[in-house]
Amino acid sequence: MTQDPPPSENPSLGLFKKYLTEHARIFRNREVLRHSYRPQILPHRMPQINEIASILAPSLRNETPSNILIYGKTGTGKTACVRYVGSELESASNQTSLCTVVHINCEVIDTQYRVLAQIAKDIEHPEEISSDKLRPHIPMTGWPTDQVYLELKNQLEARGGVLVIVLDEIDKLVKKSGDDTLYNLTRINSDLKASKVCIIGISNDLSFKDFLDPRVLSSLSEEEIVFPPYNAPQLCDILLQRAEGAFMENTLDEGVIPLCAALAAQEHGDARRALDLLRISGELAERESAQEVGERHVKLAQAKIETDSMIECISTLPTQSKVVLYSMILLEQLGQAIFTSGEVCRVYQEVAAALELDVLTNRRITDLISELNMLGVINTRVVSRGRYGRTKEMWFDANSGKIQEVITKDPRLTGQGLAQMDKTWVKKTLRW
Ligand SMILES: Nc1ncnc2c1ncn2[C@@H]1O[C@H](COP(=O)(O)OP(=O)(O)O)[C@@H](O)[C@H]1O
Ligand SMILES: [Mg+2]
Repeated sequence: MTQDPPPSENPSLGLFKKYLTEHARIFRNREVLRHSYRPQILPHRMPQINEIASILAPSLRNETPSNILIYGKTGTGKTACVRYVGSELESASNQTSLCTVVHINCEVIDTQYRVLAQIAKDIEHPEEISSDKLRPHIPMTGWPTDQVYLELKNQLEARGGVLVIVLDEIDKLVKKSGDDTLYNLTRINSDLKASKVCIIGISNDLSFKDFLDPRVLSSLSEEEIVFPPYNAPQLCDILLQRAEGAFMENTLDEGVIPLCAALAAQEHGDARRALDLLRISGELAERESAQEVGERHVKLAQAKIETDSMIECISTLPTQSKVVLYSMILLEQLGQAIFTSGEVCRVYQEVAAALELDVLTNRRITDLISELNMLGVINTRVVSRGRYGRTKEMWFDANSGKIQEVITKDPRLTGQGLAQMDKTWVKKTLRW
């Protein structure tokens, strides 16, 4: 008979034991720092909140509010403020004034069909679903769009009242599926008798207006509200308020919040970045069992975020750009800290050919190099070479090892044997 191992050797008990018995030292509730957390107080956004509220207020008298278009960079509180006003509006509405808000994230729900079906789903009454007088349930795919639109109208008419449709990240919807959805939704009121619809579009990107039919644009932007970036003192206030719920007492060095705020303000006044910095700083401190989060942890957190976003950016690059980057890595491994576009092109041609890819012209490679520079993956400068004219030189800031790691993970490249193309291979093939 075999005996059970002692508890310390039983991995299902031992591995997590220390986490269970360990008292929370840094965080009280880390969730408070997540983007999805909905704070009840939103400092420095009262003017915007009041403006949205005053535009939506007529819906409480069963009148149609103006449509609103809201702009602002990421992390300026657009989603948080609209959700806040929406839930206040719903709680202020009563039997005589039925106001409902549906919030659609168009980054995820990005076709006309899915937007319409999601709205219908969100306003469905649970009792109706189980009753015999069940309205046809719109499936998430499969019907002709006209039928979905008609059924949505029937549902709206059956319930009456005012429906506020928030199309968050509306630019993603327009770029993916054009402006048909908006065209139909902005006209829906003329087909409705017993109910009314108001649309709030939220966009991170101002230029998306150019993609809209002028009629759609003028109807959608009856009111426009801009969310400006936060400055460092404003970000401090936002972080202070969130930190109270998130951290144990006396665990934050006094410099931590101002530093997170200052770094995020340098970026573009992004509350999301500020919250990430604070949360990751706390996590790093916790991981090293520190008593306190210090400015040192914030700097480490900043470096981690930068590396992570660089990796994310590189992993989504097209294959050819990755090959160009890989050629630069090879040059660096051959001992060159700086390389010219001519050298990159030479190595690139060999690598691309060996990978059985189309070999791009030098002109195209120069374009890709400029793009990589714009993305901040490499640095470039133009130097004069006397009578040889001007040439571009480039170099990595740091961490080409990380970049290499990401590129060699690309299945389209590894499958072709990229790993064998190392500096010895270059030396041999190109007689470098
Ligand atoms: N004024 C504010 N007060 C408190 N938290 C805020 C404020 N503005 C933004 N946030 C928080 O910052 C994060 C990003 O805000 P969000 O509304 O998603 O920005 P956007 O939609 O503009 O990209 C969320 O966690 C949100 O709660
Ligand atoms: Mg948002």
